[in-house]
Amino acid sequence: MTGLEIRGLRVSFDGFVAVDGVDLTVAPGDIRFLIGPNGAGKTTLVDAVTGLVKATGSVRFGDHELLGRPVHRIARLGVGRTFQTSSVFEGLTVLQNLDIAAGAGRGAWTMARRRRTVPVAVSEALETIGLAGRQDALAGTLAHGHKQWLEIGMLLVQNVDLLLLDEPVAGMSHEERDATGALLAAISAARTVVVIEHDMDFMRSFARTVTVLHAGRVLSEGTVAQVQADPRVQEVYLGTGGVA
Ligand SMILES: Nc1ncnc2c1ncn2[C@@H]1O[C@H](COP(=O)(O)OP(=O)(O)O)[C@@H](O)[C@H]1O
Ligand SMILES: [Mg+2]
Repeated sequence: MTGLEIRGLRVSFDGFVAVDGVDLTVAPGDIRFLIGPNGAGKTTLVDAVTGLVKATGSVRFGDHELLGRPVHRIARLGVGRTFQTSSVFEGLTVLQNLDIAAGAGRGAWTMARRRRTVPVAVSEALETIGLAGRQDALAGTLAHGHKQWLEIGMLLVQNVDLLLLDEPVAGMSHEERDATGALLAAISAARTVVVIEHDMDFMRSFARTVTVLHAGRVLSEGTVAQVQADPRVQEVYLGTGGVA
């Protein structure tokens, strides 16, 4: 398992500083929640780690410096992320989506055909994400929550070591949230997980550690209990539902 070490991360858009000198260390196997009000810089931080936006400072993943590498190189080092809006192939089945993610050196025709045998990594991922019974369903017909699980499955078959999930439970039912939490726990047995989240109940139930971002900076960090007890955090969340 590999951890993440971010130092002095800074991202600016035409002079506007969205991430303003963030230090963040995520231990291997942790489930780190990244919370903070809208516009705090959470998504931009993940964009910087995954190579989607230019940043300065340092992002180390194992022995590798990620900053300055192109998106596909970072992905190949075992860093995977999901987006706030789902990016599954809606016109393909669940199985085909996983197959394509797994690559497995097959041609497009083989992958598009309905196959009788399923690679082990794909069947394991199907079980882990709870969609084994839906493998032949078109991804476009899945409920929003199940699309998120499929996206997570697509990262699992790529053998990622670090998963960065951007608001994975937005729009999910209570049961789907709990299932997602259990999924995060299962995934983190062999991987490092960073979850951006707005849902405080979900964070309380499933975070191991928490970092609170505000205006591009780290406002508070620690266990759920520690950040909830932090007066600075309570102040930032006043009028937006609170964290207590
Ligand atoms: N591509 C961009 N160009 C200009 N400003 C951006 C861009 N992406 C994000 N921002 C700004 O950076 C700040 C942080 O955004 P974001 O990382 O999406 O916040 P969060 O995910 O915490 O809600 C916001 O003020 C947002 O408007
Ligand atoms: Mg965001």
